[in-house]
Amino acid sequence: MIAIEDVSKRYADGTVAVDRLSLQIPNHSITVLVGPSGCGKTTTLRMINRMVEPSSGTIRVNGEDILRQPVNALRRSMGYVIQNAGLFQHRTILDNIATVPRLLGWSKQRARARAAELMERVGLDPGMARRYPYQLSGGQQQRVGVARALAADPPILLMDEPFSAVDPVVRRGLQEELLRIQGELGKAIVFVTHDMDEAITIGDRIAVLRTGGRLAQFAAPDEILSSPADAFVEEFLGADRGIRGLSFLSTRDLALDRSRVFPVGSDWKEIAGRGGQSPVLVTDADGKPLGWADLSVWAGDVQALEPYGQGFEVGRDSLRVALDRAVLSPTGQAVAVDGAGRVLGVAGQETVAATIRAARQRRAADTVPGPADSAQGPSQAKAAR
Ligand SMILES: Nc1ncnc2c1ncn2[C@@H]1O[C@H](COP(=O)(O)OP(=O)(O)OP(=O)(O)O)[C@@H](O)[C@H]1O
Ligand SMILES: [Mg+2]
Repeated sequence: MIAIEDVSKRYADGTVAVDRLSLQIPNHSITVLVGPSGCGKTTTLRMINRMVEPSSGTIRVNGEDILRQPVNALRRSMGYVIQNAGLFQHRTILDNIATVPRLLGWSKQRARARAAELMERVGLDPGMARRYPYQLSGGQQQRVGVARALAADPPILLMDEPFSAVDPVVRRGLQEELLRIQGELGKAIVFVTHDMDEAITIGDRIAVLRTGGRLAQFAAPDEILSSPADAFVEEFLGADRGIRGLSFLSTRDLALDRSRVFPVGSDWKEIAGRGGQSPVLVTDADGKPLGWADLSVWAGDVQALEPYGQGFEVGRDSLRVALDRAVLSPTGQAVAVDGAGRVLGVAGQETVAATIRAARQRRAADTVPGPADSAQGPSQAKAAR
């Protein structure tokens, strides 16, 4: 949908912000621009909506050169979200969100109805409609910023470090919300961040830029983690890229041990007598986990069970989550559950490790992934990373 072709930007003082950049940004996906401060991310984003004009090269949207399109029409087809939301301080939340529809000539009533609908979509309480931006938290203001950008239903969303100013917990919530909205709306989103974790969490494709505005790598997140193009990308990824890469491996093929799982009220003496291995996982009558028991000492008291911590959902959670649960488990065993929270089995650290090795071998045996292979599925599938 957006084709950036051999684009450079040299500012009047001679600074080369972007250097011969080429990127294909597809529809229905989130493309993240990531890189150190000053590497040309904002400049690239602003060239897409013509807030900055390229010095050379061409940008096409749906095949058409953006320089040939009226700038107002072009900008209306692109929602724009910035850090700290950039809200109009003297307008209510509802009127902030209704800004673009009003500019487009919608009646006040229709624009406000649309704004109210969007407040719900981005998870804002309707009671906030009449407040002013200063009466909202930073995270809430960011949600208003996203709602305002979506108001006229533009096919493209440009987001420049939209979540950088909020704390990590709120940020995580905003990322999940964006993935959910994207799952429903399927926009072409160009998202700028300097945080690689954020890029991996939300990106279908990631463009890593280096200082001087040159492209270091453009690939799907799992490919960047498993095969960084060079030392710069590798260093930018940080120390634990191996562990983070596990986010892209499914728990579907994990071999689960069902021999250790028993419902409460089982004949424990009989189980111990036939050599049942401790620890065992005790479940309630519905099959939901209660805790761990060592059959050599446990007397059947549910209160005396060792807490099992948190389980992982087979198929939805990644091997990273499964490994994390196994590491945190007092028995070294992670509890696998289905969508309803019922126990499917348990998996020890060794089992998770063997599955990781098998998945890596399978991947190495595959041919080098092309764009079709590496394109991620629906964005909402990533919430469990
Ligand atoms: N109007 C301007 N005139 C001259 N130089 C500029 C101008 N705007 C940006 N630059 C320079 O261009 C380079 C790229 O800037 P840009 O804002 O695109 O970087 P960025 O990747 O968004 O950085 P950050 O992560 O800090 O936001 C920087 O060296 C910056 O100083
Ligand atoms: Mg910037």
